Amino acid sequence: NEIYFNGLRGVVPAYPMSFAELEERAEAVLPPSVWSYVAGGAGDEHTQRANVAAFGRWGLIPRMFVGAARRDLTIELFGRTLPSPLFLAPIGVIGLCAQDGHGDLATARAAARTGVPMVASTLSVDPLEDVAAEFGDTPGYFQLYTPTDRELAESLVHRAEKAGFAGIVVTLDTWITGWRPRDLRTSNFPQLRGHCLTNYLGDPVFRSRLDRTPEEDPQGAILRWAQVFGNPLTWDDLPWLRSITTLPLLVKGICHPDDVRRAKDGGVDGVYCSNHGGRQANGGLPALDCLPGVVEAADGLPVLFDSGVRSGVDIVKALALGATAVGVGRPYAYGLALGGVDGAVHVLRSLLAEADLTMAVDGYPTIADLTPDALRPTTG
Ligand code: FNR
Repeated sequence: NEIYFNGLRGVVPAYPMSFAELEERAEAVLPPSVWSYVAGGAGDEHTQRANVAAFGRWGLIPRMFVGAARRDLTIELFGRTLPSPLFLAPIGVIGLCAQDGHGDLATARAAARTGVPMVASTLSVDPLEDVAAEFGDTPGYFQLYTPTDRELAESLVHRAEKAGFAGIVVTLDTWITGWRPRDLRTSNFPQLRGHCLTNYLGDPVFRSRLDRTPEEDPQGAILRWAQVFGNPLTWDDLPWLRSITTLPLLVKGICHPDDVRRAKDGGVDGVYCSNHGGRQANGGLPALDCLPGVVEAADGLPVLFDSGVRSGVDIVKALALGATAVGVGRPYAYGLALGGVDGAVHVLRSLLAEADLTMAVDGYPTIADLTPDALRPTTG
């Protein structure tokens, strides 16, 4: 309505109204190496495309005489009521997508303005404490890339607790970087790494591991970080991860129902079904195809979902397949690139408006009404 009423006054939208246009305009404004880092994926990016295409294989069946004049998109998550089921997936080095380099702070401000929670990456340009300070009343979650040094991992988690984060999301699928031809071609990673060590460089445990301070020897600090970054965790590590925080603990990158059951047995508070937006392994199932099995195995435990969500309709479909909350990655990164906080807010509000209108038009006024029965497989 806001957009149509503005149109009556002759004001046309400043930001894109479709994902295709958003992507095209983001590519035009981002430096090529940042663009290839954000937009790219593993291998020939088949899985990345399949994540998006998977939504097209489900169709919503509209219901009539529902009178869905009022919709309720609120959800309950870890004891809090959130205004919508949408969240911001963690994006490492998101700072580079904002013109001033502070994309982490900008994302946190967009979260505060919309009530859409941010999952903040370990690999941020801005310190996690500064990011948390921008959340306002919106809860934020800290995403942990677990270093091999357990004391350092604990320090990061305890800093996140102290800073006011509402949960810890441990990402399991990226202890090693996937085969990403776009980044390999630009040799992007060393360049990006220099930008994303803030949380390590400011950490007392990390600093205590260095022979010389990062100020005296920046290259030495980067190399040390590279040595401790990737931890090939096993199930034996889960009791320890569970023991280091009293906050809700989630595990990200879960696609197999057996992994859901083991994680649940290990005491996690939620599972996060994702294939990292197709950035880690090519040749995998679309994340959406894994969602029903994950939901079934979770048996009532909250299930967060991301990978391939490009529209409000996609959000509605993921909810109907049982997701508790639905995340976006690249869409908000592109919004930030185009318009900073306002651009990210525009993307989030557009996604939510489309989800809300879809629920209205299709006659599913609440999230509880969205069950698998709202969907059928489609050939068209
Ligand atoms: C990511 N993702 C990610 N995940 C994570 O747990 N920690 C991280 O630091 C990052 N970094 C990151 C950088 C970039 C540029 C992208 C695009 C993604 C994965 C992210 O959280 C999410 O799983 C995907 O982005 C979801 O897929 P879509 O929405 O991008 O298709």
